[in-house]
Amino acid sequence: MYTPAELAALHQQSFQAEPTLYRAPGRVNLIGEHTDYSGGFVMPAAIDFSTLIAISPRTDGRFLAHSINFNEHVDKPVNELLSGRAKSWSDYPAGVLWALKEKGINVGCGFSMTIVGNVPLGAGLSSSASVEVATAFAVLGALGVQMPLAEIALLCQRAENGFVGANVGIMDQFVICCGQQDHAVMIDTRFLTYTLAPIPSDVRIVICNSMVKHALADGGGYNTRRAQMEAGLHILQQHRSEIKALRDATLADLDRWGSEMKPESLRRCRHVITEDERVLEAVKAFQKNDLTRFGELMYEAQLSFRDDFEASCPEIDILIDLANQQPGCYGARLTGGGFGGCTVNLVAAEHAAAFVEAMRTGYFAGTGIAAEIYTSRASAGAHAVSL
Ligand code: GLA
Repeated sequence: MYTPAELAALHQQSFQAEPTLYRAPGRVNLIGEHTDYSGGFVMPAAIDFSTLIAISPRTDGRFLAHSINFNEHVDKPVNELLSGRAKSWSDYPAGVLWALKEKGINVGCGFSMTIVGNVPLGAGLSSSASVEVATAFAVLGALGVQMPLAEIALLCQRAENGFVGANVGIMDQFVICCGQQDHAVMIDTRFLTYTLAPIPSDVRIVICNSMVKHALADGGGYNTRRAQMEAGLHILQQHRSEIKALRDATLADLDRWGSEMKPESLRRCRHVITEDERVLEAVKAFQKNDLTRFGELMYEAQLSFRDDFEASCPEIDILIDLANQQPGCYGARLTGGGFGGCTVNLVAAEHAAAFVEAMRTGYFAGTGIAAEIYTSRASAGAHAVSL
């Protein structure tokens, strides 16, 4: 990963302009999956991996960007950039400019950007949201426009929904804006309020990357799951109009009217309703430092994700089984959108090194795949970086 000074020097060399720098982390979700577009609860944390952007404003109305990771350059008039997706990494910064313009912010001057990041791509650790939030911070900073964090998060979600085409919820962008070092963030996605939960110093968040890639846009399964859940929601709403989102529904509602739904819609709704209950209980367990109960809830969440939401995959199931056999592992589950990516594991600090080793060996033995395993602290949200 480039240091800020190295990135600034490269930017200066490429664009003959002195940049300002912004950093936005990735995220891991401890519990609360696919509840964030139904007004529910989630408990993610920002992580050590991040995107770093150097930016300088232009006057010729062009967007010039250099992605160090992809070793690619873009050079287009802003208007052309915003006219549609290029189906490449540049859709994320472009989507943010598009959403800013939609909000009435003039981005017509153009920008030069140099982008680098180390959030693993397509691994369920929010590389996309990290680029979006870093871009939003960078462009707003370059234009001298202030915006509340929740509004920046919504703007980045809008970029992904309206420009990139993935109907994601608000969790990733929100925690990337509001994360705090050594804290998980319990977010109420209906009211966009949050409380911070300190992560005990004697546990480690271990992230195991199955190396199975997932994609949220273009038929990656995410939009389908969401549509199936919403079809079930509409049936409940016909019976109880006060149900505005699945957060307002109960298992009793499902018992009563679930038979009117397609079986897969019933299962998706059951996952979301029970997941909201699990998050609320998990937060209480965390506050009482009852990591055993927290871990059990993670495991129950995984079963629900696998069987009701049907968004796990065989490689992830192997990682979960392995994790549950390891001493000191409180809980393990898939984190993020699903269909691959990473598991999140809560592990007693004294067992963390042995856990990592056992997971690496066991996963390779079971799949022939070399997992990447990261032990991350909860990190701070997006911010300007001084040189
Ligand atoms: C992705 C989306 C989030 C959320 C999760 C699933 O990360 O970006 O909004 O829906 O999947 O919990």
